[in-house]
Amino acid sequence: MDIQNLQQTTLQNIANANSLDSLNEIRVSVLGKNGKLTEELKNLRNLSAEEKPIAGQKINLARTAIESAIAEKQNALESAILAAQLTTEKIDITIDKKDRGLGSLHPLNQTKKRVSDFFISLGFSIIDSPEIDTDYYNFEALNIPADHPARDVQDTFFLSKNIVLRSHTSTGQIRAMEKSKPPLKIISIGKVYRSDDVDATHSPMFHQIEGLVVDKNITLCDLKGTLDLFAKHFFGENTKTRFRPSYFPFTEPSVEVDASCYYCGGIGEKDGKNCSICKGTGWIEILGAGIVNRRVLKNCSIDPSVYSGFAFGMGLDRITNILHSITDLRVVFENDVRFLRQFR
Ligand code: DAH
Repeated sequence: MDIQNLQQTTLQNIANANSLDSLNEIRVSVLGKNGKLTEELKNLRNLSAEEKPIAGQKINLARTAIESAIAEKQNALESAILAAQLTTEKIDITIDKKDRGLGSLHPLNQTKKRVSDFFISLGFSIIDSPEIDTDYYNFEALNIPADHPARDVQDTFFLSKNIVLRSHTSTGQIRAMEKSKPPLKIISIGKVYRSDDVDATHSPMFHQIEGLVVDKNITLCDLKGTLDLFAKHFFGENTKTRFRPSYFPFTEPSVEVDASCYYCGGIGEKDGKNCSICKGTGWIEILGAGIVNRRVLKNCSIDPSVYSGFAFGMGLDRITNILHSITDLRVVFENDVRFLRQFR
């Protein structure tokens, strides 16, 4: 058989082969033990001495060409098979997925994060304080003795005679001052409890943020400056604050702090009507605060003739509701997703 012809048809067959099996068949039929080219090789011995090297060279050239074409085709077929496997055997991780949608932080946690980020930026540390505490930490150490009328407004749940669900985060002040000596700059955020019935503005469980700074020469000015910055950060650049005299057993003097209304800009009027957020007053009460009572410092073995401090306590739920114009506290705890979705 003409070697050139054999080479050409074989190369053509290789090009047309569409499976590894058919490619192998071609290889066996040409290069195998009884293959066509192998036969030609065997036939060499019948040729004359002059013809032999010429024919031998032709056969070798044909062999190399066919072998490399087979190798090339084999590669191509193998990659095609792999590619097909990758698409057909791919694991579809989206299959049977239940559409749960993207979640988001609860509005209270958004406030918590904003408030703590702000105070951290001023150099405050965050401390934890237990929700179940003793009468001493909740009342006594904060200058609220057993017969004090302030206990009435802070009526909470007693687990036993001395163990209470904390009625405010002010317990954190005592724990912070017992643990570390001044200078101190802490906030404490968490759940507090009161024996109140549930209505639009009351809940037996709500949240507070407590702040405490103790150092030398701390005055009401430091308190005012800190809270002023906070109010601007939380309610907007143009927010103003004002102090009103008040009373808390653990601070002396004590103040109630108002922020100018973010909704009407402190005018008390919006769109020709009384502002619905501040009820026309231009101010919103945001927290209680004061200069730490000397007795409280003494209770924590801090010398009031050397150190002074300021403290404040703020309702997390309250400022969240003010910010988002939420008029019913209950919806914040019910966790209806239709409500929560608005705060993404
Ligand atoms: N503990 C007070 C309350 O729950 C709030 C408060 C007022 C905290 C004045 C303070 C403060 O630290 O200085 O009503």
